[in-house]
Amino acid sequence: MAIAQPDIPAPALEMRGVGKSFGNVKALSNVDITAGVAEIHAIVGDNGAGKSTTLKIMCGIFRPDQGQLRLGGKSVEIRDASAAHHLGISVVHQDLALVECLDIATNMALGAIPRRGRFRLDRRRMETEAAKVLDDLKIRVGSVRTQIGLLSGGERQIVAIARAVRMDLPIMLLDEPTAALGVRETAHVGEILGELRQQGKAVICISHDMDFVFRNSDSITVMRLGRSVATRRTKDTSRDEIIGLITGAIQGDTASSDPTFA
Ligand SMILES: Nc1ncnc2c1ncn2[C@@H]1O[C@H](COP(=O)(O)OP(=O)(O)OP(=O)(O)O)[C@@H](O)[C@H]1O
Ligand SMILES: [Mg+2]
Repeated sequence: MAIAQPDIPAPALEMRGVGKSFGNVKALSNVDITAGVAEIHAIVGDNGAGKSTTLKIMCGIFRPDQGQLRLGGKSVEIRDASAAHHLGISVVHQDLALVECLDIATNMALGAIPRRGRFRLDRRRMETEAAKVLDDLKIRVGSVRTQIGLLSGGERQIVAIARAVRMDLPIMLLDEPTAALGVRETAHVGEILGELRQQGKAVICISHDMDFVFRNSDSITVMRLGRSVATRRTKDTSRDEIIGLITGAIQGDTASSDPTFA
């Protein structure tokens, strides 16, 4: 199914002063992130730093208690995941959100199942499309009729990424896309993200893998204890600085600053 593609000028996605609590737990306060078009923006931080919560706000799963989200410079409210999709945002979640009892082709089509007539799904088209996307991305996972539950963790991760790429939307969010992958597959995901950047898309990628981040990202936002403490151009920083910012050994910037995109 063709999906209307909003034309998003730089910067693609911004968060300003975002806060979010779950009951008494303050998960986020004053989070600022700016992701530009045609760039890979990494979000790093320790466990529980608020990275996934931030991403879930970006894709409409959670609503922020404070602050603003902007797309292409315009303030938006993203009511739910389907609204995010219509605004041009696709997402690969940390828990992948695949349906184990369905096969690869069906999982890749979820949300946009091809139909014949009003009620019958077009099984052949679904399989051909899934096989083409996987082939274009040079992903080898055997038959598209294989049930997701039979795949390895790494294969599932690749299928989840392929599903998001298939949507062909201007903004793509990924939460730990290489967590289950070996060295070669991780490099392959780096190439896929590089290709998306080449196409002018904004890619926002949470990762613990510093090699991956330094090899592939253009800029990095560090989160610590629910705050965005610093944003750096990847080429202008070092692992030591980023790790220092993650642990708190290095002081972050003052609240609400975002030097890269000032
Ligand atoms: N639905 C929820 N209800 C209550 N607390 C939550 C919920 N989601 C997240 N939290 C809390 O918010 C904080 C941030 O969690 P989040 O999942 O965003 O961290 P993270 O940076 O993604 O961590 P990790 O690297 O382990 O994935 C944690 O203290 C977590 O327990
Ligand atoms: Mg997380």
